[in-house]
Amino acid sequence: MGSFSLLSAAARRLEGKVALITGGASGIGESTARLFSKHGAKVVIADIQDELGHSIYKDLSPQSTSFVHCDVTKETDVENAVNLAVSKFGKLDIMFNNAGVSGVAKIDIHEITKLEFEQVIGVNLVGVFLGTKHAARAMIPARQGSIISTASACSVIGGSAPHGYTSSKHGMVGLMRNTAVELGRFGIRVNCVSPHLVATPMAKDFFKLDDDGVHSVYSNLKGRVLKAKDVAEAALYLGSDESKYVSGHNLLVDGGFSIVNPGFFMYA
Ligand SMILES: NC(=O)c1ccc[n+]([C@@H]2O[C@H](COP(=O)([O-])OP(=O)(O)OC[C@H]3O[C@@H](n4cnc5c(N)ncnc54)[C@H](O)[C@@H]3O)[C@@H](O)[C@H]2O)c1
Repeated sequence: MGSFSLLSAAARRLEGKVALITGGASGIGESTARLFSKHGAKVVIADIQDELGHSIYKDLSPQSTSFVHCDVTKETDVENAVNLAVSKFGKLDIMFNNAGVSGVAKIDIHEITKLEFEQVIGVNLVGVFLGTKHAARAMIPARQGSIISTASACSVIGGSAPHGYTSSKHGMVGLMRNTAVELGRFGIRVNCVSPHLVATPMAKDFFKLDDDGVHSVYSNLKGRVLKAKDVAEAALYLGSDESKYVSGHNLLVDGGFSIVNPGFFMYA
């Protein structure tokens, strides 16, 4: 409660900005909602988990935070969430397309149904398309804005997640690059933040691991553990004016995981 007082006005990197965060009720989205609030942003949390979303919004400041039920696969829900941010707080500066699902834990392509594949694409890629589309609608007249989407380390490598998930995250990077080109004409920046494994409910459920188990998954950077807050810090950078010339970028927060082949032992 009242985390605003923890930072001086000068240290608040999002003072006066309005942010909409999908998947903001849990994990990386929740951590980002808390960090953005601490940095002076007005935050709208959009999620399908109403109870959790409401509890976070109340824990932050009801004057500067809001919760809206939003299923990112439904265009009317996304449109409504953007409209709420604008009507309640006057504008939209930062869109954080963060909602995502891992999909079923099947790795053999012949076992995955068309519906299962489409469900992951529906949330992770179509949801980001809708979020980007409606955020752009609100941002274009203002000739500024920052759209950020949570992709993943598996947006740049194969073999680290099931087909639907990897495809959706690769697709997000393509959409991010195309929209960065299109929306750059209006002063709007579009980027992705791409984490390696973080012990959120989604990751623990998917890999059937507890916190320690998640941390034992292959890491290139020894002695450090990636937390939701670290991803939120990357989103804070992309949302703030400190990244004012950064657009079309996929910011990997993976400790070098995606650039090393652990089969080669040069540094063992
Ligand atoms: N945790 C990891 O290891 C990891 C790694 C790389 C990328 N990511 C990505 O980070 C993002 C956030 O995931 P997380 O790890 O914080 O998991 P999480 O399960 O803690 O949070 C995901 C949130 O998205 C919401 N959500 C799911 N479907 C939705 C829908 N249709 N509409 C609106 N909200 C919906 C959930 O209710 C939940 O609150 C996802 O895009 C995920 O793919 C996570």
